[in-house]
Amino acid sequence: MGVHSLRKRMVAGNWKMNGSLQSNRQLLDVVLPQTQLLSECDVLLCAPFVYLPQLQQAMEGTGFALGAQDVSVHAKGAYTGEVSGAMLADVGCRWVIVGHSERRQYHQESSAQVAAKVLAALGAGLTPIVCVGEQLADRQAGQAVCVVHDQLDPIKALGAQIVERVVLAYEPVWAIGTGLTATPQQAQDMHAQIRAFMGSDVVRILYGGSVKADNAAELFAMPDIDGALVGGASLDAQEFLRIVAA
Ligand code: 13P
Repeated sequence: MGVHSLRKRMVAGNWKMNGSLQSNRQLLDVVLPQTQLLSECDVLLCAPFVYLPQLQQAMEGTGFALGAQDVSVHAKGAYTGEVSGAMLADVGCRWVIVGHSERRQYHQESSAQVAAKVLAALGAGLTPIVCVGEQLADRQAGQAVCVVHDQLDPIKALGAQIVERVVLAYEPVWAIGTGLTATPQQAQDMHAQIRAFMGSDVVRILYGGSVKADNAAELFAMPDIDGALVGGASLDAQEFLRIVAA
């Protein structure tokens, strides 16, 4: 058995700021009966905070897992608008996305803050999915690896024991929501760089950025790609299931 097969595959749907009670219900009705997909793959749905209780109730006992899209660095107190890791665990989350490029870009999250969120998540018993990825200009300037290493540095500095408890997601910013996917080889090359930099054979590294049913299989065939973080395509139940099946 190769090291790759020791890392259980994972597909995580990141709904971003989408959904409604009704449309969520319709999607869950299609996705949740497909429990046969879970034997070889962790499948999670990362929904907006307000819908987490709805999903928890619907997902209970199915084997599908629940995640949030962000977590506060603080444990509790006077932080208006923030949601703590303990609150997320309380409503059934086991996972949380941290450092998504949209948080870095629109909310000025620094890599140091992302590392603080990793600790906050782990402290609450959640597994953080840490997103990294370069902008198009970085890639064109030949700086992609350098930028990703800089983003990972504060995570690596937390030490090997922490690194082995997180999931990483490589999401090149130029591939997010653009329909422009990294080629399987581009993604593989970066995943191998990330794995070497983090010094871990066991950490799972997901690819994200315009993953669709018809490009998932070729991405998943790569030795250092352990699954996907899926945005737009996770809002379409059939498309999402086809990605998981791949
Ligand atoms: P898309 O799949 O819509 O490109 O989004 C990727 C993403 O940002 C997942 O976190």
